[in-house]
This record gives sequence, structure tokens and C-alpha cells, in this order.
Amino acid sequence: MEKIVVNGGNPLFGQVEISGSKNAALPIIYACVLVRGKCVLENIPDVSDIRCSFDILRGIGAKIRMITRTTYEVDCTDVEAGRSDYDLVRKIRGSYYLLGSEFGRFGRAKVGLPGGCNFGVRPIDQHIKGFEALGGRVSTEGGYVEIESDRGAVGSNIFFDLSSVGATLNVMIAAATADGVTVIDNAAREPHVVDCANFLNTCGAQISGAGSDVIKIKGVKELHGCTYAIIPDMIEAGSFMVAAVATRGAVKINNVIPKHLESVTAKLIETGADVEEFDDAVMVTSGETIRRTSVKTLPYPGFPTDMHPQMAALLCTAEGTSYINESIFENRFRYVEELRRMGARIKVDGRILVIEGGAPLSPAPVMATDLRGGVAVMIAALTAKGVTEISEINLIERGYDNIVGKMQALGADIRKVTVPDDAQLARAN
Ligand code: EPZ
Repeated sequence: MEKIVVNGGNPLFGQVEISGSKNAALPIIYACVLVRGKCVLENIPDVSDIRCSFDILRGIGAKIRMITRTTYEVDCTDVEAGRSDYDLVRKIRGSYYLLGSEFGRFGRAKVGLPGGCNFGVRPIDQHIKGFEALGGRVSTEGGYVEIESDRGAVGSNIFFDLSSVGATLNVMIAAATADGVTVIDNAAREPHVVDCANFLNTCGAQISGAGSDVIKIKGVKELHGCTYAIIPDMIEAGSFMVAAVATRGAVKINNVIPKHLESVTAKLIETGADVEEFDDAVMVTSGETIRRTSVKTLPYPGFPTDMHPQMAALLCTAEGTSYINESIFENRFRYVEELRRMGARIKVDGRILVIEGGAPLSPAPVMATDLRGGVAVMIAALTAKGVTEISEINLIERGYDNIVGKMQALGADIRKVTVPDDAQLARAN
């Protein structure tokens, strides 16, 4: 079993290169199923959710070739619908994009229900609403989602009940080669929605309005292969920005799109930090002290829910009482228990976190409860003088490419260790 061991107290100084966006790469990888040809994808992050997705696509007949550590050739010429591995699909959330791409290409789909971080119920009713609007007959039985249709996806108008990143992407993918025009209203505006639209347009699709809440897709007969570079990961970048401030350091974060980080930048400035923007980098310098602030998570361009746990770790060491209102997921607070083990004075009141700052955190054995919660306890450990051990680190490695190496390069005393698990210990005795 692997753990991350942090000897906290060092401020982070130096420069870090941000990897490609996991949440942009996932829909684009599955959208390759629409293309009877080869796509070359660049700036792919080396994280387990991506490796799992490549395994899922290989399992349905895709040929995937690594060209460099971050560049892959994906050839979906010979893929077949309804053949994806149930147990692989349930490992991650992003596998549900296979529904949209199988439906778009074959007029039918059969994919196991997705998995992903455990934030309570994560329904897919809006995805189903979209597929039905496109002429699909959707059933969910036996752990599978199945889509059937008489003549394949047919363009239509869809008004989503709420802003859903996944549903917006899934329907956009299905509509790219549908018969006719689709208009998605109340669409999610996240940068990874724009990135997937740009990828599809590079393959010959006709999508306009991505990044606004109305997206228009004129279905085309056929898509062709292309070469496409994924955008930088705004959540990885935000995580390093928060870590720099939490450790009272100064870090230049390279290979970012500053506009994607504006809500995080604004909040860090409220805490007293200084953020200087360059074309493709931000320079973050902590203030003398960290002032309290209040945060409400919202769909883009609001403060991202995927940055809430990291911000909570920072605000534990701020002066005064801070609040975080998690308006997107009803329960992504499991990491709070782990911060409490380190002396954090946090209470959860419904969807509101009340954080009493002013006291340093102290080391304790903790675990990653989910992807972003895992990075939150890592940031807390970086601020706590002494040795903290973090277990369940596979959850962190789902979405962060070499985070330990990147933190070491910034001066953190952090390392990954392998410890025998109980079964190995029992065998040794
Ligand atoms: C994506 O999840 C991301 N995952 C999440 O990142 C991110 O937190 C989320 O978007 C919001 O930005 C991937 O991209 C793989 P939603 P998704 O559909 O698509 C509700 C991470 O850490 N909803 O925008 O599942 C839903 O329950 C992960 O990288 C419905 O009610 O998010 C939630 O309350 C964690 N019905 C809200 O909408 C639906 O059909 C937003 O969910 C779909 C969603």
C-alpha cells in the first residue's frame, strides 16, 4: 500500500508546470469514438482516470498508441457499441461520455452506470433527458444505461433543468453527427465544455456558442481525424495557487490560462495574497497573514466546487471565521473529518462550512476521502509542522499528474512510500 508522507512547515517557492486538464481530456477521449479515423491528442495528463479511459476504449476495439508521455494516437475506426467493461466503467465518472459517443455514432448505446467521487447521489437524469430529446429510448436496468433509436440521434431543442457539465458535454457529443440541428439551453459554460466543442469542430463538427449558456450544434454526416492539444488543468493550477498561499510561499504557476482562474485569483487576493497574471502563467505570493473570507461554489465562471476542499484547508490557517457554501454537491464534506484530525475547527451546517481559523494545524495520520479532498489534506499537511501520513493516495492520483514530484520541486518535504498492508504483515509474521 502506498502513502504520502509530509514533513510540513516549509513555504513553497519556485515554479511549477501545470498538466493538461483531466476534465477536458475525458470527454474528448470518448468523443474520439465518433471518428472513423485517427486522432492525435496532446497535453494529456498522466493520471489514472485517463489510463482507465484508454483501457475502456481499447476494450471496445479502439487502437491507442502512446507517442510521448502526454501525446496519444486514438484510432476508433473499428470500435463497436455496447461492449464496454462494466467494472472498468464503474471506476470513474467520465466513462458516461461513452453513452453520447456510442449513441451519436451507432444510434444506440449500452454502458454500465458510472462511478466517481462519492459526494452522495450523482444522478444522470439530465443526460437521459437530453438523449430522449434526441430521439433515444433510454432504459436503466441491471446497472446499465441503454439507448435505442429507430434512426439514430435526431437534432432537437433541450432546456436543462440545471447547469450540468456532464450532461452538456454528453448531449453535445451525441448531437455532433445527429440528423439536424440541436440547441442546448441552460448549458454549462466550463472551459472543458469549450475545449470539447473546439475538438469536435477541428474534426469537422459545426458547434457554436460553447462557453455561453446556449450551444447550437448543426449535425454533420461524418467527422474526420485531427490533432488537438488539451487545455491546462485549471483545478490543478488552483490547487497549487492555494498551496502557495497556505504555506506562506511564492510560486510561479506556468502553462495556465489566467482567465480560467479568475474566481480563484479573486478569492486569494481577498485573503491578502498577491497574484500577478502573465499570458500563460500566474505568480502567487502569500500575504504576511491570511485573512478570512467567504466562498460560494457556483457553475463557471463562479468559484469552482472542485476548489472548495483546498480553500477550506487554506482558511483553517486564516485569521478569523470563514464560510464556504457548497451549492453544487449536497455532500462533498467527507474530507472535513480528516482536517479535524489535524486540529481544524470546522463545522458543517447543512451545505455551509464554518471555519474558525487562527490556530496552526498539527500532524496526524489522515486519508484521502476523494480526489480534491485528498489534495486538501495534503495542503493542510504542508502547513502543519511535523510528519503527517496520508493514505488512500490512489484517489489523489486519479486527477493529479506527479503532484508529489511537483511539490518536492517547490521545496516541500514530501515523499511517496510503500508500506506493507495488513495481509502482507500477516504473511511476514
Ligand atoms: C463534473 O462532474 C466534474 N467531473 C466534477 O469534477 C465537477 O465537480 C463537476 O463537473 C462540476 O463542475 C468530470 O468532469 C469527470 P455536473 P459532473 O453534472 O459532470 C447535478 C473532480 O474533482 N446533476 O456539473 O458529474 C449533480 O448531482 C470532479 O474532477 C443532476 O442533478 O457534474 C450536481 O449536484 C468531482 N442531474 C450538479 O448537477 C444530472 O443529470 C452538477 O453536476 C447531472 C448532474
